[in-house]
Amino acid sequence: MSLNGKHIIVGITGGIAAYKTATLVRLLVKSGAEVQVIMTPNAKEFICPVTLSTLSGKPVISEFFTANTGQWHSHVDLGLWADAMVVAPATASTIGKMANGIADNMLVTTYLSAKAPVFVAPAMDLDMMAHPSTTRNIALLRSYGNHIIEPAEGELASHLIGKGRMEEPENIVKALDSFFSERRPLAGKRVMVTAGPTYERIDPVRFIGNYSTGKMGYAIADEAARRGATVTLISGPTAIRPKEPQVEVIDVESARQMYDQCISRFGETDIAIMTAAVADYAPAEVADKKIKREKDEIPQITLVKNPDIAAALGKEKRPGQILVGFALETNDESANALDKLERKNLDMIVMNSLRDAGAGFGTDTNKITVFTRDAAKEYPLKSKQEVACDILDNIAQAADCAQCDK
Ligand code: C5P
Repeated sequence: MSLNGKHIIVGITGGIAAYKTATLVRLLVKSGAEVQVIMTPNAKEFICPVTLSTLSGKPVISEFFTANTGQWHSHVDLGLWADAMVVAPATASTIGKMANGIADNMLVTTYLSAKAPVFVAPAMDLDMMAHPSTTRNIALLRSYGNHIIEPAEGELASHLIGKGRMEEPENIVKALDSFFSERRPLAGKRVMVTAGPTYERIDPVRFIGNYSTGKMGYAIADEAARRGATVTLISGPTAIRPKEPQVEVIDVESARQMYDQCISRFGETDIAIMTAAVADYAPAEVADKKIKREKDEIPQITLVKNPDIAAALGKEKRPGQILVGFALETNDESANALDKLERKNLDMIVMNSLRDAGAGFGTDTNKITVFTRDAAKEYPLKSKQEVACDILDNIAQAADCAQCDK
């Protein structure tokens, strides 16, 4: 990893995860970056400025003026000096100030002056994280083009278990490194990916589902993020998480929930990639108590049709938006795939056949054919990560983006 010569502002706010920033600063310096630490006054209660100035080799800035000399710290100069600014940990309070332009300390003032890309690693208790105010403020930061390094799930300082743990310093450095080191042909594009199965509830303990693991969709979301896109992953229940911390994950359970999320986000999406194995039908009624085994009676489940998300987006698609579907087939593969392309108004469909060994659910490999309206490209069996690259190369071409050279 190399951040050689990069000027990085590390903005530290007053959360317990501030103790991890000593490692963050150390790792950044080790990978060649020049680091300027800015702390909010509260942050100094959690970690000693001397530790950070020693590790960064520069005096820590916290106030607008140095008390004994009266020297003024120019937030404008700092903002121009930086190649990137990382706010870690970012408390709910600082996120709120950044989102709303409340520049009452050196950190937020510098943030408002910074021309460089900004990375924000939230850290807070799970209830604060889930509060609509926090959710809204994080969404505002995203809308300004800031990169959110999603907090992990785990044990929090409160000993509660949930989402809110600041991402580990190693992964924050990784996010910066991949931002600077890779070609970013999808920079500025907003990509929405659906992944995994959907669960359609029968009663509080049972559901109708399928064998999808989400691996293909997660690989695509990760690769799109590596190529610079702002990625939202709308995920059915899976056991995996994205490798790239910048990917925003929206967890859903049912097709209806996935549909609602997709429809509400599609307007601001440039590229939508529908890899989810969405259940076509859901029970018409969900029993509110566990259905008991009756002696002679076999329960009947009446099904109703789920919305076809891809087709609904196909109807709403504006010129310039790209909609990609998947077709997992068992027979008449090409004809079925082309029929779906047409019917759902897709720009591209990725076909895989369950007849091919190593393709489909659960495997780490896939074998695809990519259809556009006027061409078909068949690929050999590859890892799902390589397949994600192939799919994004095709999309980039369609979106008139530069081709990835991998
Ligand atoms: O019609 P079929 O389910 O085979 O189409 C597959 C494609 O349509 C996939 O891209 C899948 O994610 C999408 N789809 C959807 N909503 C549904 C069913 C399928 O988005 N209800």
